[in-house]
Amino acid sequence: MPGMDLRNLFCGPGKEALVSVGVMAPDRGQYDSLVEKIRSHDYAYYVLAQPAISDREYDGLYRQLLDIERLHPEWITSDSPTQRVGGEVLDGFRSVPHQAPMLSLDNTYSANEVVAFIKKLERLFPNQPLEFTLEPKVDGVAVAVRYENGQIRQGLTRGDGTVGDDITSNLKTIRSIPHQLKKNPGSVLEVRGEVFMPRSGFVKLNEKRLASGDPAFANPRNATAGSLKQLDSRLVSERPLDVIFYGFGVMDIDVAPETNVEFLEMLTSLGLPGPHRYWVCRDAASILGALEELNSMRKELPYETDGAVIKLNSMRLREEAGNTSKSPRWAMAYKFEAEQQLTRLRDIVVQVGRTGVLTPVAELDPILIAGSTVSRATLHNEDDMKRKDVRIGDWVLVEKAGEVIPAVVRVELGERNGSERIFHFPTHCPECATEIVKESHESSGSTIYRCPNRSCPAQVRGRLIQWCSRGGMDIEGGGEVLIRQLVESDLVRTPADLYRLDIAQVASLERMADKSAQNFLDGVAASRKRELWRLIYSLGLPHVGASTAKSLAKEFGSLSGLSQATHEQLVSIEDIGDVVATSILDWFADPENQSLILELTNHGLLVEESHWNAQSGATRIFTGQSIVLTGTLPTLKRQQATEMIERFGGKVSASVSRKTSFVLAGDDAGSKLEKAQSLGVRILSEADFLALLPDSGPENKQPPHGAVVS
Ligand code: IVH
Repeated sequence: MPGMDLRNLFCGPGKEALVSVGVMAPDRGQYDSLVEKIRSHDYAYYVLAQPAISDREYDGLYRQLLDIERLHPEWITSDSPTQRVGGEVLDGFRSVPHQAPMLSLDNTYSANEVVAFIKKLERLFPNQPLEFTLEPKVDGVAVAVRYENGQIRQGLTRGDGTVGDDITSNLKTIRSIPHQLKKNPGSVLEVRGEVFMPRSGFVKLNEKRLASGDPAFANPRNATAGSLKQLDSRLVSERPLDVIFYGFGVMDIDVAPETNVEFLEMLTSLGLPGPHRYWVCRDAASILGALEELNSMRKELPYETDGAVIKLNSMRLREEAGNTSKSPRWAMAYKFEAEQQLTRLRDIVVQVGRTGVLTPVAELDPILIAGSTVSRATLHNEDDMKRKDVRIGDWVLVEKAGEVIPAVVRVELGERNGSERIFHFPTHCPECATEIVKESHESSGSTIYRCPNRSCPAQVRGRLIQWCSRGGMDIEGGGEVLIRQLVESDLVRTPADLYRLDIAQVASLERMADKSAQNFLDGVAASRKRELWRLIYSLGLPHVGASTAKSLAKEFGSLSGLSQATHEQLVSIEDIGDVVATSILDWFADPENQSLILELTNHGLLVEESHWNAQSGATRIFTGQSIVLTGTLPTLKRQQATEMIERFGGKVSASVSRKTSFVLAGDDAGSKLEKAQSLGVRILSEADFLALLPDSGPENKQPPHGAVVS
């Protein structure tokens, strides 16, 4: 919604609203404005994927509306927020009616209400022992996936609960969603579940976005919603999405499960991912116990959970209990409190990233949230700050948003005393004093401030950090502290400068012993032979992440090939669209980048992968390599590792020599490991090794480090 001022749309924080709408004797005007307010929050949450208030506040408003509607049923119209499940159908996708409506759940933050829910069902079904299941409530985006005779046919969003968006091609890109079930359960099985982004993938995605100048997502759920909304499923396939199924819509199968436990077991037998953990309980006390257990282990789950869902186990009793217009009577959601704390916002500073983008960061009076001290929180971008009306000196509610990066949720407006100051983005870069440029990004509707000076020390450091990073050229010892010193002492400006360093220069840096200086230089030297895709990725072309870099390496086989690519050639590659292609062309057209490449070539960096023929060699990534196994690997048996190496063309040998390509080392590795270390032979952990193997068919894997050493 370009041009719309969201601050006018939302009438301040929810807390204020809770007081101002008196539920005892509401008038029609109050009711109407509450409806309007909830609708605008629905829009912010479902359509913009930018919630303006916390879930709890939203739930408070929603309850007030229910209360008023109970007093005045005559006011309810079919478009009241209580009369639909929420969400809107997005433009651009085909709208498809749900054969069985996708309902929502009643939810509560109170254990007493959980007990009341159980009691109510016990009263409904007297004289029979009831069983309940309790599952994590996955905080993601609800979807329905329809299989016909075991084959995937269609995937829909919830939409408004009655009609959803057809996002089949997007869902098909999610690796954990099978295109064919392990066996054919019968004519139709529509499973329902939650698509989510694992925490680790979310962190990486945001790093990547910030690096290419795109705004970060506020939390994994927004990142998921944003990803599924993409019209280009190729972009979706790059997003680290996953799914948990927990329910069904239409189910016309040969053997219908009689209980939820049977249903969950059936999911597993069909190859569909279900909840990582669930509990079967017979009474309120054991449900409360399970809730506690879930609460204490939820941080270990790979996804965000905002509570638990408690369901009747018996399918027959579920049918008997039935649904209200909005939610089933046989299930209830219990939500955990988000971990939030109030504190004073002392100052706002900006951080300059690798591409020059300025990110506003709140400096806070330190507070303890969920066991760790928080003294900084992201303010995301200017639009977000304006929407929340954040000012220096404000009392702010800080949340570990998505439990990952602390974020400012809202301002306590009632605490203001007039001394608060509005923050303005600096007109000049705090690092290099260059004038800042303001950019409007039409695709995301956001404004970005950027330092255009490519020699800005912050950008120089950022580029070098990316170059040395594990996912990049993987240079040992090349951490942030050392890079800062190298840049400050003017020894290094570009990645090419790293290859000119000598031991005296590095050892002269503060707190740098000869040994660690040598280790670092060894790491730099070893990085000369990294694979082409790492080199491409490390160059930091905007919009080129590791997976795009892999596609480019595979397609062009050399940096010079890539530098001469045409727009047409680039967009014909699977992951690459117009934006990325243009960004690549612009990058190579820049004379500074051209001379960087020339220098890197002169320093002997691998700019060509002539030994690597992606088409014919892909399945035999270890061809010509001699690999040594030592120690106990965490999961693989020795025999399994040997088979894998041989299957991909490698040879396992018993002893380490200079010719050894790499050593695959586990726990308690002894003399072979030492020898490898002394000879400078590359050492891989099981995880490193597995990461090299092709994961979806052997076609798209690049050779490991050293595979192309000539
Ligand atoms: S059962 C009739 N089980 O939470 C609806 N829902 O707040 C049955 N959710 O709409 C839903 N984890 O999108 C169910 N284990 C789980 C869930 C779950 C997350 C979502 C789902 C639902 C919403 C309700």
